[in-house]
Amino acid sequence: MAKRPEWLDNAVFYEIYPQSFRDTDGDGIGNIAGITEKLPYIRDLGCTALWLNPCFDSPFGDAGYDVSDYCKVAPRYGTNEDLEELFREAHKLDMHVILDLVPGHTSWDHPWFKESMKAERNEFTDRYVWTDSVWEEPTGYGSLRGISPRNGSCAVNFFSHQPALNYGFYKPSRPWQQAMDSEGPMATRKAMMDVMRFWLSRGCDGFRVDMAGSLVKNDEDCKGTISLWQDVRKFLDAEFPEAAMVSEWGEPDKSLQGGFHMDFLLHFGPSHYNDLMRCDHPFFAGDGDASAFVAKYLENYEKSQRKGLICIPSGNHDMDRLARNIKGDRRKLVFAFLLSMPGAPYIYYGDEIGMNYVEGLTSVEGGYERTGSRSPMQWDDSRNAGFSTADAAKLYIPQDPSPDRPTAAAEAADPDSLLNEVKKLIRIRQDHRALQSLGEIQFLCDGAPGKPLAYIRSEADEKILVVVNPTEAAYELPAEYTPEETIYSFGKGLDGHRVQGVSAVFLKIR
Ligand code: NOJ
Repeated sequence: MAKRPEWLDNAVFYEIYPQSFRDTDGDGIGNIAGITEKLPYIRDLGCTALWLNPCFDSPFGDAGYDVSDYCKVAPRYGTNEDLEELFREAHKLDMHVILDLVPGHTSWDHPWFKESMKAERNEFTDRYVWTDSVWEEPTGYGSLRGISPRNGSCAVNFFSHQPALNYGFYKPSRPWQQAMDSEGPMATRKAMMDVMRFWLSRGCDGFRVDMAGSLVKNDEDCKGTISLWQDVRKFLDAEFPEAAMVSEWGEPDKSLQGGFHMDFLLHFGPSHYNDLMRCDHPFFAGDGDASAFVAKYLENYEKSQRKGLICIPSGNHDMDRLARNIKGDRRKLVFAFLLSMPGAPYIYYGDEIGMNYVEGLTSVEGGYERTGSRSPMQWDDSRNAGFSTADAAKLYIPQDPSPDRPTAAAEAADPDSLLNEVKKLIRIRQDHRALQSLGEIQFLCDGAPGKPLAYIRSEADEKILVVVNPTEAAYELPAEYTPEETIYSFGKGLDGHRVQGVSAVFLKIR
């Protein structure tokens, strides 16, 4: 397993979508200076690390996941110097900042792609995945065709304006498919390491890596992509051993082999994560079923050497806001779960105050239905909820119009708020090693219909029994466990040996 930066073991991350966090220059869109201004809020919440969505130069066809210059902060967010200032200020507060690395594709506006489209051979001819003829498409991928003097179709990785960078094919089967170790793919790999070096040497603490498992093509078991990341790991071990690497992959056994420290749980694919908070009958609404999620989680837990290396997010910029399906105090139960699970928890900005999904919005920057989860943060009752002084019509995305929309200021003043509960839970996690990333987990109850989630977290001689019960029914603790101390209780909590409905408890046991 890769050497780990120590700070990662007790990290609680806060994900920031920079467009929507805080605008300090009144243009209606968030900026880096706004993030720096709000660091004390995030620190006070208890979070120790930030993940920033891409903040690099881009035509913003996919909210910045379509990079046109990896080494330049987009002017709308500020300058490289502003970002370095954010790193410095975060470090002063003992916080860390990871950036979003998008190695699988660029924007079609990237100078590399413009060069690659030229008919004459040049340094960037092989930077992207091209077929030899415009009449042949790269099977299995969408493609860009008929847009260049160069003859050929170029594979895309996501939207059609995101051409796929060329890291080669695991098993080339057509003349235009290059081997992983041929010159073009190796140059792409080196270019991406140069990007990492650029930001790491300026104070960035690591990366969340977009679509990390997608790089090598025709690579069914990801053997090629794993070996590519192992090569990156060698580079990091030699030059930046403290850099944290978290993958958007969804297969922790593969990403950990590749030298990542942690992998994200995904809201698509086989994880059953959506069963918890985002389906017709989500578990946390009280009438759902978490058992398939637990079964899959345990399968991955075993594959990742029984270490807490699977990060569970409260939400992110790609999925429905947690508050869309889970109402009222049940949201507190979600955080009791997230903040007592192994791996580093990720809190999506605004989820800590129960920000709503804004319904009915027109797509902004390739957001489509994701747009409703990307609305500006609600700080207080001032103009535009304290997000920006711009005219409301100029805001990046319209804000939640509800008169009772939550704000950070109002919740800070209310002892029973979600915000204060999240703060309390983070503090408890940080005071108890058993609850942190690497503590073991053993499930006692898997949240099958009518049942809670119950599990024991342990580390050295500390053992904590967690019960998160969103159902209406009480849960009888297994007789062999005698609670010694209640370190957290929400709802009616423990009555004798029974955890009441719509309650959560963390109990010290022997
Ligand atoms: C995953 C990112 O989270 C998403 O927002 C983006 O659209 C795709 N990758 C493509 O980069």
